[in-house]
Amino acid sequence: MRIEEITLRNFRNYREMTLLPHEGVNLFFGANGSGKTNLLEAVHYCALGKSHRVTSDQSVVRIGESFGVCDVTVLAGGVRRKISVRLVPNEINKKTIMIDSRKIQRFSDMMGCLQCVIFSPEDLGLIREGPSVRRRYLDMMISQINRGYFIALQQYRSGLEQRNALLRDMRSGSGGSRKVLEVFEQAMAAPAAVIVAERKKVIDLLSELSSETYRNISGLENEDFRIGYHSSLREEASVEEAFCRQMAENREDDIRLGVTSAGPHRDDLNLSLNKKNMKVFASQGQIRTAALSLKLAQMKVLKKIGGDAPVLLLDDVMSELDKNRRMRLVSEISDYQTFITCTDETDLELDMAPRVYHVTSGNGEARVEETSPGRPMVLKETAEPDFT
Ligand SMILES: Nc1ncnc2c1ncn2[C@@H]1O[C@H](COP(=O)(O)OP(=O)(O)OP(=O)(O)O)[C@@H](O)[C@H]1O
Ligand SMILES: [Mg+2]
Repeated sequence: MRIEEITLRNFRNYREMTLLPHEGVNLFFGANGSGKTNLLEAVHYCALGKSHRVTSDQSVVRIGESFGVCDVTVLAGGVRRKISVRLVPNEINKKTIMIDSRKIQRFSDMMGCLQCVIFSPEDLGLIREGPSVRRRYLDMMISQINRGYFIALQQYRSGLEQRNALLRDMRSGSGGSRKVLEVFEQAMAAPAAVIVAERKKVIDLLSELSSETYRNISGLENEDFRIGYHSSLREEASVEEAFCRQMAENREDDIRLGVTSAGPHRDDLNLSLNKKNMKVFASQGQIRTAALSLKLAQMKVLKKIGGDAPVLLLDDVMSELDKNRRMRLVSEISDYQTFITCTDETDLELDMAPRVYHVTSGNGEARVEETSPGRPMVLKETAEPDFT
């Protein structure tokens, strides 16, 4: 899968911009605040209909403008598609997404047209923060390859919201009945089973690939990075039955607490390094390498299951790695169409990208200028010592 063209109009600090990226590695360098992340964010919009860094669309339209647009033309499996996202400021839910000039009705209709994986500095939260960050990572990954999963997730979430609202009513004595709770639980059971089964399948694959990627980037055989699935549901032959049984068992406690205490919305990924909990024991460098390995393993999973390699977006990743790790990272990404940003011009010495672009900003407007088309990709390993 590759992006052939990106066009931005009134998107963040871009007024009008068209870019024809290379099918390999595209390197964007520029000062802080010039517009590098904005460009990656636009690609993310076209892949998933939303930003990777803000939850609302409000801040994305260029200040003072009445609308903003990001378009990409994608070539995947021999089929060329144009995805267009049009945003309007100060109006919630006023986003229009078009595929080949036809407005889509549901987000699920765009899933998979453009697959991308983004790594940004905030992704260190995958290791450091709570379970919801890791669930989001899993859900975004699986939704991109499996529309049925995305739909199951929406159905489950809607059932969960209704069940929780009813639990709160029952707790406060303002209505609701156990019979209605049971109806919601039964409706949640089938999507819960789809979610658990898909997560298990993907985590099995991801586990092997992320361990291998961690070793490749660190260059250290004795660092064993592992991931595992932590489910709040008991292991039983039928997830649907296990779900209903556990809901029934927890019902009185859930009414007392006003929340649903078990189910896929409470799942997590266990992350360990040499059998120790990463969150508690890992060093900064190990956390960075692990987060990056999870993202690169995600690329491999998407390629393996979907048959086509997604587009890789690496935001400011180089500055966090020593030179040997950077070189090993370059060899990991060479198979993908990659958009990589950096502020440090010494990263250009890595000679990793066939296309290098300079991003500048003047009068609040970003410009992207190609500086060296057709540079060859040269990989040189240095003799610098490793650190973790
Ligand atoms: N809606 C908007 N309208 C106009 N400009 C905006 C808007 N939103 C953000 N900006 C501007 O975009 C710039 C930030 O761009 P971006 O986050 O892409 O920078 P960057 O090149 O990634 O910087 P860094 O290297 O610090 O990460 C800021 O100057 C900000 O003022
Ligand atoms: Mg940035």
